[in-house]
Amino acid sequence: MKLLIKPPLMSLITISTQIFSRGFLFPRKRLMLTYLVAMICILGTSGISLYLFLIKNLNQQLDRELLTLVEAAAPSLNIIKSEGLQSLDREVPWRNLFSEQEYSLEWYDSEGKLLAREGTQFPHMSLFKTISPAQLNKGFPVLQRLGHIQTATISVYANNPDEETPILEGYIRASESTQEMEVILDKLRVGLALGGTTALVLVSIGSIYLTQEALSPTQRGVQQISKITSDVSHHLRTPLTRISIATEILLSKKDKIQPEEVKKLNIINTAVEQIRRLVEELLFLVRADLPSKLRESVSLKPLLQPLSQQFESIAQARGINFQTELLSNVLVSGDSVRLTRLLTHLLENAFNYTDPGGSVFFSMKLSHGTVIISVRDTGMGIADGDLPFIFQGFWRGELAQNKQPEGFGLGLTIAYAIVQQHQGEIKVSSQIGVGSCFQVHLPLA
Ligand SMILES: Nc1ncnc2c1ncn2[C@@H]1O[C@H](COP(=O)(O)OP(=O)(O)OP(=O)(O)O)[C@@H](O)[C@H]1O
Ligand SMILES: [Mg+2]
Repeated sequence: MKLLIKPPLMSLITISTQIFSRGFLFPRKRLMLTYLVAMICILGTSGISLYLFLIKNLNQQLDRELLTLVEAAAPSLNIIKSEGLQSLDREVPWRNLFSEQEYSLEWYDSEGKLLAREGTQFPHMSLFKTISPAQLNKGFPVLQRLGHIQTATISVYANNPDEETPILEGYIRASESTQEMEVILDKLRVGLALGGTTALVLVSIGSIYLTQEALSPTQRGVQQISKITSDVSHHLRTPLTRISIATEILLSKKDKIQPEEVKKLNIINTAVEQIRRLVEELLFLVRADLPSKLRESVSLKPLLQPLSQQFESIAQARGINFQTELLSNVLVSGDSVRLTRLLTHLLENAFNYTDPGGSVFFSMKLSHGTVIISVRDTGMGIADGDLPFIFQGFWRGELAQNKQPEGFGLGLTIAYAIVQQHQGEIKVSSQIGVGSCFQVHLPLA
């Protein structure tokens, strides 16, 4: 596969025609959306990370406080066991902690039986209902969240002078309500939601402004290139017509010139015809975005019947089997000249890239509010790897260049632009050596 004419000016024209054939709305919307999605991802990730970091910090702080409390209370278990609850006043001087803040302490014996309890915020569940003795006897504090209460439980051991293993005296559980933390988190959530919404509004305004700023130089550049292309193409028409007329005049006096000269004049004529076609196709592409009579209601059969008849004679001349199946009373909203041109390009390709003996099918069917116009051939087909390129300006397949050396690679670019103008879709399926099928989907009027 090769790209055809690619000197610098041509590359420029290719780019401009491609951008124009898709319109400027598409890149603008895509740029804005990309920017918005990127900003939402950044803001969302930062907000969630901040929120998770704060939750983790608050939880760690709560756990640290509970661990300090429960470890400080460890010596009191023995005293409570021997002297009872009344010793609390004497042994736990920091007990006002329980009334001022939302802490609680519970003392259990080694069987898990509650010996004493201080404070108001504690889980309404006995110790062994929430933790198994095996878990507790591992020697580490056990941290748990039970509803709105966070707890830290430790096992308390007494030294056994005779044996190596210490004797289990019981357990102490410290608890604290998480309500205060939840209030802080609620405020944080509200703050993040408000901040996020404000940031999103600002980012949206920024994205519109930045997209405008980023695209306007390109837009201006493309407009200039299109204008130059349009002017150059326009001004080429007159000299081309003059050359054409001059060669025709010379050719009309065949008897007065040498056969060798006639041959050369014919070559000039063919070349002029080719340039004229290129100029005309470029002009069409750069003007593709200009308004046309797209609102006219077009009945497809009367439009496509003459086209089909035209190709019937080409089919006969080339020995290709041509079958047509056009539906009556199918109306689309569009420009009849452009629609004819679209299908001419597709039919031309089907005939150009199908060998004598092959077949071309031209048909129509209705499906869910759209008409599907198919041009199917049993020709040379398109390789899978080439399919992404076929709608690009000036792209031609290698086989196509051998079969039709005079092509430009613009037929499908024009077809694509016309389908876009009609809010339609163009789909291709193809298999090398088997054939191709181009389907144009157009909304019904
Ligand atoms: N029906 C088809 N069968 C096989 N290949 C096709 C067919 N239609 C298009 N192609 C491939 O797509 C390429 C681009 O097609 P397009 O119509 O744009 O250009 P072209 O036919 O090469 O030249 P032009 O239409 O400007 O005369 C072709 O060169 C060819 O490789
Ligand atoms: Mg073509």
